[in-house]
Amino acid sequence: MAKHDMHGNKSRALAAFFAALILTTNASAQDRQIEQKVDALLKQMTLEEKVGQLHQLSGRDLTGPANNRNTNILAEIRKGKIGSMLNVRGVAETREVQAAALQSRLKIPLLFSLDVIHGYKTIFPIPLAEAASWDLPAIEQSAQVAAKEAAASGIHWTFAPMVDISRDPRWGRVMEGAGEDTYLGSQIARARVLGFQGKKLGGTDAVMATAKHFAAYGAAIAGRDYNAVDMSEHQLWEIYLPPFKAAVDAGVATFMNSFNTLNGIPATGSAYLQRDILKGVWKYQGFIVSDWASIAEMVKHGYAADISDAAQKAINAGSDMDMEGFAYSSSLVQLVKSGKVKTALLDDAVRRILYKKFELGLFDDPYRFSDAKREQDALNDPSHRLIARDVARKSLVLLKNDKQTLPLNKAVKSIAVIGPLANARRDLEGGWIVKSDAAQVVSLLDGIRSHVAKDTEVIFSPGCDVACTTTDGFAAAMAAADKADTVLLVLGESWDMSGEAKSRTDLGLPGLQTQLFEAVRLKGKPVTVVIMAGRPLVFNTVADQATAVLYTWFAGSEGGNAIADVLFGDYNPSGKLPMTFPRSVGQIPISYDTYETGRPVQDVKNVVYKSAYIDTPNTPRYAFGHGLSYTDFSYSNLSFSHKNMQPGSTVTVSFDLRNTGKRDGEEVVQLYLRDPVASIVRPVKQLKGFHKIKLVAGEQKRVSFTIDQAMLSFYDSKLTWIAEPGKFIIMLGSASDDIRLSGELQLLDKQK
Ligand code: BGC
Repeated sequence: MAKHDMHGNKSRALAAFFAALILTTNASAQDRQIEQKVDALLKQMTLEEKVGQLHQLSGRDLTGPANNRNTNILAEIRKGKIGSMLNVRGVAETREVQAAALQSRLKIPLLFSLDVIHGYKTIFPIPLAEAASWDLPAIEQSAQVAAKEAAASGIHWTFAPMVDISRDPRWGRVMEGAGEDTYLGSQIARARVLGFQGKKLGGTDAVMATAKHFAAYGAAIAGRDYNAVDMSEHQLWEIYLPPFKAAVDAGVATFMNSFNTLNGIPATGSAYLQRDILKGVWKYQGFIVSDWASIAEMVKHGYAADISDAAQKAINAGSDMDMEGFAYSSSLVQLVKSGKVKTALLDDAVRRILYKKFELGLFDDPYRFSDAKREQDALNDPSHRLIARDVARKSLVLLKNDKQTLPLNKAVKSIAVIGPLANARRDLEGGWIVKSDAAQVVSLLDGIRSHVAKDTEVIFSPGCDVACTTTDGFAAAMAAADKADTVLLVLGESWDMSGEAKSRTDLGLPGLQTQLFEAVRLKGKPVTVVIMAGRPLVFNTVADQATAVLYTWFAGSEGGNAIADVLFGDYNPSGKLPMTFPRSVGQIPISYDTYETGRPVQDVKNVVYKSAYIDTPNTPRYAFGHGLSYTDFSYSNLSFSHKNMQPGSTVTVSFDLRNTGKRDGEEVVQLYLRDPVASIVRPVKQLKGFHKIKLVAGEQKRVSFTIDQAMLSFYDSKLTWIAEPGKFIIMLGSASDDIRLSGELQLLDKQK
């Protein structure tokens, strides 16, 4: 990779833009045909019509009873002043609204977009939960089903996946991402893009995907949503950008920029991010949509004097479409007429959007995604629930299992099911839902009832609601625990405590939930705690004192069945944490790929002046990659194909993985790497590979990883991507804090 300048400026960004215009690409015949059609259409368009293509509006019930807003929007559409709608959905409505676009002079179809984040009608586990499965085919399939349901309902485009890395669970939007790790996040970004988009854009069972939010949104200062981001270029390139690059490589159709400033410049107005990196270095051909009103918000940031200034800055910086900001629709015509914005820049943005409309086949048939029969079939396909159940059980993480309390015996005489989330339905759906029906969600209580033997007594007592502000229900909960042989206590957040604008400073279990746990535990029965949440929570008392802890996130429509599958052993848990779980909010931001200091805590135990807290260990409560199984796996016989690696060549690392327990199970084998001496200090370990491997009880397999030069490379102080010759430590294990095997490798200086 070439060197990157530290600071983009406007003139260089524009120069790069004009250079890109004359770049001849290896376009296929079909690409060229589309390009010709786009050019021909562009020639017929007035300035106003061009600007219209860049204007995206939100509208619900546009075809319902007329009111000012919907009458105006439909009128604007008929004038060709809107290029895309968000939140219009369903065959009937998308057809009616598209019909308005076809009454416009040039009959350019609208793009219908929507936040289909973890399901359309069938709700899948929240994205952070799915990331815990480390199961790429399952994640791809979940996106595929969501796309199929949405596409059959007239939707062309989803605002997903969110590929923001975050090391801060105070930030409520960690629920929408893949966690803290760049490598895992990049693999999942790719799987989700492939799942949403299918083989090729234009299939009516797929939608365009969006890589969002470009960029560094997950590093908001203090975990407060929309807050400023200030980070080194090195961190940006090494940690935050790779999942976006992975999305580009997977062919993602669109990007969304972000609300935050990055080192003082709103991402929406950043030519460095959008023109230099995305459209320049990465040669991205899709289009960029702003986040909701983020162009107009540049005025509030103090980066633009007024809305016209904001529009000028955003289009120059490479933001192609304005979502709900009314900056382009109000100012761009004038900006182009006055010469403040070059026609070529406007044309480039319009071209990128029209290209996607052609690629989707909308000019051939603007209604091709809105098919009543397909909508009916897709939304009632029973296989979707089975797929949701499968990915949900793969997403659950067993954090603790003392005395092999789990799996529970289905023939247990009586079981107390306690806690505010035990019978929850809406909460299991998590933050982003579209057309689901909470009544159709399988609660954990439902799941338990359908798993236990006929004569098992299930005693339900909520104890309190999620906010848990009173102990009024505790006595009944304790009585239930007293009567039962075993206790399941279901605690956690409500669905609306994580997500957008849901930052928290206290990550403990809400209200008096911990006291409910303590009260129930007094009865002396084994207590299995099931935690539902959209983020890592801090729950030390429960972690110390519960007999078993299962972290279930928000597991979706089939959540109750999936959790019961794990609790009763129909599925052996295989999930691993995609984010570090801190002991205390004071440790945040926290991640496993930390740097060594000059005063490492382990080297100077009895010394005061070391890099440590005086009140909490440095280690997390549960490390990245942690997750237990009902069986055990052993790692042995590590071998390297060679110990000296020639530049540009590869080395194969292999070892034996054995299921040493009595149950079949899956292990996520994790490969970490450390470059112990480098021109800039490298992290103590970084994930560079993983395999999810299924072994029946007693089975052994030889597992291999191929190490190539890219895995040894990093951005040096000049942001050059290099692998420095010398020693590398390769670590293999079951979690970032559970390394089972390690060995060394030498990268040679030059061909010897
Ligand atoms: C969010 C985006 C979302 C958009 C449209 C914004 O507030 O940040 O992620 O796609 O709204 O709903």
